[in-house]
Amino acid sequence: MEDLASYGAEAARAAAAYIKQRVGAAWQTPVAGIVLGSGLGGLADRIESAVRIPFSHVPGFPVATVAGHAGQLLVGMLGGRPVVALAGRFHMYEGHDAALAAFPVRVLHALGAPVYIASNAAGGVRRTFSPGNLMIIADHMNLMFRNPLIGASEPGDERFPDMSDPYDRELRTLLHQCATSINVSVQEGVYCGLLGPTYETPSEVRMLERLGVDAVGMSTVPEVIVARALGMRVAAVSCITNKAAGLSPEKLDHSEVMEAGRAVAAQFESLITAFVQRLP
Ligand code: HPA
Repeated sequence: MEDLASYGAEAARAAAAYIKQRVGAAWQTPVAGIVLGSGLGGLADRIESAVRIPFSHVPGFPVATVAGHAGQLLVGMLGGRPVVALAGRFHMYEGHDAALAAFPVRVLHALGAPVYIASNAAGGVRRTFSPGNLMIIADHMNLMFRNPLIGASEPGDERFPDMSDPYDRELRTLLHQCATSINVSVQEGVYCGLLGPTYETPSEVRMLERLGVDAVGMSTVPEVIVARALGMRVAAVSCITNKAAGLSPEKLDHSEVMEAGRAVAAQFESLITAFVQRLP
């Protein structure tokens, strides 16, 4: 068990102060903070005038462990707007508490980002989903059975955050508009977070389907909970990298999941760039 206070508001302010100091005079308040999911880190290369800070330099960040996660924080311009992006994230299946999984979002908030953009790789539970589909997250289900807000309430956090519309309606509409304008096809659906690191069994996938889940993954939920507790507006996109277990004859393999992410990366990058450009 990690010390929860280490991942609270004060630690986030310290991390933010370090990041601003590293960027120096070029610092501008970001219009959004972005977390790039597995296989989606290529968006980092579209960030101009980027200051790249390894996770290991950021006070309070542990070192990322999963292959394919570069573990860098980037500060720069995307679509002409200032952003902070994280290539890599901290997963609960690495043994981290929900509070640590969500800590980067606290840092993005402390840096002044009013909008949190999450992305992830996910398995398609909806039977019509195929690898390479992009799904705008409309809502989530927390089947991690952990919550990053458990413990003493952090200053600035809502104690009992409303979760009736965690994925901002207006931002979802904007994502759809951007997708149409750049000719990228998108779906919309419910993301379910599980702890992992095992992929699901076919029976679990059938259960998720009956519960109303469209895509399943091992991240994002703790981050979105903290973003909402802090009053940030949230937008999120899942990259469907595979049909969930049992829905195709294929076995699930992490390297294939990563490969499918790379195949749709260009569309994902164009969508997020257009979205950031048009953020209010
Ligand atoms: N299940 C859980 N997480 C995932 C999957 C999956 O099928 N694909 C990519 N991340």
